[in-house]
Amino acid sequence: MGLFSSSTKQVPDHHDLPQHVAVIMDGNGRWAKKRFLPRVAGHQRGLESVRQLVKTCVKRDIQFLTLFAFSSENWRRPPDEVTFLMGLFLEALDREVNKLHEANVVLKLIGDRAPFNSTLQEKMLEAEQKTVANTGLTLSIAVNYGGRWDIVNAVNQWQLAHPDQALLTENALTPYLSMAYAPEPDLFIRTGGETRISNFLLWQLAYAELYFTPTLWPDFDAAAFEEALSSYRQRERRFGRTSEQVSADHSV
Ligand code: IPE
Ligand code: IPE
Ligand code: MG
Repeated sequence: MGLFSSSTKQVPDHHDLPQHVAVIMDGNGRWAKKRFLPRVAGHQRGLESVRQLVKTCVKRDIQFLTLFAFSSENWRRPPDEVTFLMGLFLEALDREVNKLHEANVVLKLIGDRAPFNSTLQEKMLEAEQKTVANTGLTLSIAVNYGGRWDIVNAVNQWQLAHPDQALLTENALTPYLSMAYAPEPDLFIRTGGETRISNFLLWQLAYAELYFTPTLWPDFDAAAFEEALSSYRQRERRFGRTSEQVSADHSV
């Protein structure tokens, strides 16, 4: 069993501050276009928003932050943009790891690493190993990640580990999912105005509070994040129960 079981099976404790925030960082291209800049300039600026958000999460004592950096569908983009994004990722990994380590951040990379070259795979592993014993924010970056890949991969891993079992259960699958080390996201944020999940954490978002904002990712600053947190605080998370049951539970 993983440390955390599926929230669809168990009602998690309620906190005013989300323990786990997952973000689709969207709108970099449009941010650049508005300024007559190449799309990649938007990605470059987007990295600044990542730095800011990580800092805020460390300061606010949020335990898990998960960022969608490159989806399994993003390979369909023009080759130049894909190359630029891979380069930016490698550069950021190189430049930021020490700072993250100093900030006591645990860095995790989720997604299918098979298509990445060996240099990148090694760097990813090194970065994770360097920060593994830290105790602060766990920052997970999803690269070549797809929610459907995650589920199918987990099923395959489960099957390999249990060749003689025919039936899978929700709780049996959870430890094989790529985020088995984290509780499920409490708050999901998508910037850039689209209201879709785009094959992000399909299993794990089952009971997340969804927050969509038209703010483009490079413009998503600490104040914009505070707005998302404030919206989260106003939600009543019932997990299938009635409102009366939730109130009774909170008053004990
Ligand atoms: C999100 O911004 C970043 C990645 C997908 C890597 P986009 O590049 O999707 O920006 P828009 O949606 O075109 O504005
Ligand atoms: C989703 O953004 C993936 C990332 C932010 C990395 P996209 O901009 O690629 O999503 P769609 O394809 O428009 O839904
Ligand atoms: Mg987009």
